[in-house]
Amino acid sequence: MFFFWLIIFSLLNNSLCDSPEPWQIGFQDPATPIMEGIINLHHDLMFFICVISIFVTWMLIRTLWLFESSQNQISSNLTHGILIEIIWTTTPALILIIIAIPSFSLLYAMDEIVSPTITIKALGHQWYWSYEYSDYINENYEPINFDSYMIPEEDLLQGQLRLLEVDNRMVIPIQTHIRIIVSAADVLHSWAIPSLGIKCDAIPGRLNQASLFIKREGLYYGQCSEICGINHGFMPIVIEATNLKNYIVWLANKFAI
Ligand code: CUA
Repeated sequence: MFFFWLIIFSLLNNSLCDSPEPWQIGFQDPATPIMEGIINLHHDLMFFICVISIFVTWMLIRTLWLFESSQNQISSNLTHGILIEIIWTTTPALILIIIAIPSFSLLYAMDEIVSPTITIKALGHQWYWSYEYSDYINENYEPINFDSYMIPEEDLLQGQLRLLEVDNRMVIPIQTHIRIIVSAADVLHSWAIPSLGIKCDAIPGRLNQASLFIKREGLYYGQCSEICGINHGFMPIVIEATNLKNYIVWLANKFAI
């Protein structure tokens, strides 16, 4: 009976982690195919890292043990061995080639801009982000444009995340190919959201672009990831991913203001 309630309870509390948690050491839950790819590559690499670390540690301990003077009175006059040298040169090279194949395919997948439905410009400022939805223009030929400031600690409402919540969230539809153009108005910033697998440098005078395809609805929290001055830690990013209908309602409200 206890386990029954435990299962029911855990199902009811099935919330995804799209923001950092205390003492977290792993990744946040992925929401884009790219982030799923990054996590899979990390796990693949972890296999090689474990095997190599165990092997090197074993070799080191064995060497320290066997080459100790009391263990080994007469030293060997062996200076080189062709076979072992071929093995220890080619094995790491082969491992690197095996790692390179999935790594490059992921790298090129991240670089790919799939013909986007919506283009949004994210502009870094000291110390807030502003967003421009240039695809939509009102009767005065102005695009949707708004600033996104962090909510200070004293103004937080119950349940809002400290140092992560903003006053104006960037709202985008799910299951849509979106292009994000990132730039900065003053100094270097970096537009990064862990759950979406994006970390794009915001450089003054340059437009960087990233592709985004969010699989599920949710609130995705990120932070500026390039030291940009005294309030670098206080310019978070919040993305509200919603269905197309809600997105259109949000757009209509933005025009009404
Ligand atoms: Cu903006 Cu760090």
